[in-house]
Amino acid sequence: MYRIDSKVDTNSDEFIRNKQEFLRILDEYKLILDQVKHGAPEQSVARHKERDKLLARERIDLLVDPNTPFLELSPLAAYGEYNYQFPSAGIITGVGVIHGRETLIIANDATVKGGTYVKETIKKHVRAQQVAIENRLPCVYMVDSGGIFLPEQSKVFADRFNFGRFFYNQARLSAMGVPQIAIVMGSCTAGGAYVPAMSDETIIVKKQGTIFIGGPPLVKAATGEVVTPEELGGADVHTAISGVADHYAENDRHAIQICRNIFQNLEAVDKQKLDISVPEDPYYDPEEIYGLAPIDFRKPVDAKEIIARMVDGSRFHEFKTRYAPTLVTGFARIMGYPVGILANNGVLFSESSLKGAHFVELCQIRKIPLLFMQNITGFIVGKQYEHGGIARDGAKFVHAVANADVPKFTVVFGGSFGAGNYAMAGRAYDPRLLFMWPNARISVMGGEQASGVLIQVKEEQLAKAGKELDPETKEKLRQEILHKYDVEGSPYFSTSRLWDDGIIDPVDTRKILAMGIAMSLNQKFPDMKNGVFRM
Ligand code: COA
Repeated sequence: MYRIDSKVDTNSDEFIRNKQEFLRILDEYKLILDQVKHGAPEQSVARHKERDKLLARERIDLLVDPNTPFLELSPLAAYGEYNYQFPSAGIITGVGVIHGRETLIIANDATVKGGTYVKETIKKHVRAQQVAIENRLPCVYMVDSGGIFLPEQSKVFADRFNFGRFFYNQARLSAMGVPQIAIVMGSCTAGGAYVPAMSDETIIVKKQGTIFIGGPPLVKAATGEVVTPEELGGADVHTAISGVADHYAENDRHAIQICRNIFQNLEAVDKQKLDISVPEDPYYDPEEIYGLAPIDFRKPVDAKEIIARMVDGSRFHEFKTRYAPTLVTGFARIMGYPVGILANNGVLFSESSLKGAHFVELCQIRKIPLLFMQNITGFIVGKQYEHGGIARDGAKFVHAVANADVPKFTVVFGGSFGAGNYAMAGRAYDPRLLFMWPNARISVMGGEQASGVLIQVKEEQLAKAGKELDPETKEKLRQEILHKYDVEGSPYFSTSRLWDDGIIDPVDTRKILAMGIAMSLNQKFPDMKNGVFRM
């Protein structure tokens, strides 16, 4: 494969200015991430430690193999909501390696409102299980939760992807033959009791773990029976009397060790074969991305310059270099893993859509994971293009992407607007993982365009009544819409609502994608299957 020949002058004013601005954005992101990771109230953390319990992230550190990374998902979930009282939505999820096995880990953070579940906590738990289902990953549930956050019950209890989905997913994962282990390290009340009860093996910690369908206050109210939590459903009860749990642990560390031992006796996995080569650093320094990544979206950025700083040896075997250049397509390696890359280099035309659909099919049939690099304002608009059938050609691209069952990964490195988001494997297209860079923006269209559309609609409405929009009201309306799109287009707004799996530093993108591809090999890639492509 040829090395990309970079044309960027890293000493230019433009590059240096971009880098300075990017580093400011990156610092802000790192500060927010740090605040969130230490966001639980001090007194809750102190009380938790006094009880001789480890914090959720400490538990995960001990569970995974030493010196292996933990790919945390959506650490900024619920950011900016609930008066900042639910850092990370009170739950830590992600992929780590236990005895060499990529494993999905879900750990309640009991220092955040007793580890209770609000809407985003639920979404994060269900999303993590979806990652396990799609990639056939064993699961470890580190349970320490008061269940549903009761004031929010109407938003978390009854709907399809609400609390009940956890146990449905556990049953489905089990039927797939996916091992699931629960470690009960604290409270496990009401519906939450099904997490350990539906796992293959359950460990419970002495004097800390409790499992019951109704806690002592409910029992007293319902039957008048007075009972302590320990008598009702502590570690002694469940390992010696009820048999709901299988292993009795002296403390958190002991429980984690038992869990690791369980992993030594799991069935070996039959992984998807992939032609993996020796990893190699990019020839061009990944940190140069800071000087290149789009901040002002009016300025075009050559996607190949970004690719050059992400792939092994900066080598790229481009497909259809001369045709439809607003979509760059080609093959490369990331930490030794083969990938087919589609990266936006401008607006999507009919030709770029056909090129994209063709390339996706190539990767599907060759069983090569797909990487979508989004920086897209959308599909081209106008009479000429509608007459040329842009809707039909765009549909082919969307169709190919939706049906591509090889693992897809999406990185939003600039803007993600309009139907371009769909064609480029946005969240609705089930990429195995989707990340945003901190400079990214996401919304149905840009604020300027949205204000233009809405003002025009308003003007036409008034014109029908023989009225006009006065300049002052028009400007006020424009400013309101711009402000709304500014807030809602932010990556923090997206990540808080789990439209993505997290915001990442561009320099870490290679490492994160490599972990994603490694995890995806636990599920064999299905054969290509497409429906009707309109011609
Ligand atoms: N809904 C809403 N808030 C809850 C809650 C719930 N289910 N469970 C706990 N909280 C809140 C508490 O009000 C407290 O809030 P604050 O910090 O603003 O005062 C915080 O979570 C911590 O609770 P606290 O009882 O002080 O902590 P703890 O560590 O001693 O006990 C629990 C934690 C979860 C064991 C205990 O709070 C409990 O039993 N909660 C009720 C569990 C339940 O019955 N759930 C059924 C829901 S399906």
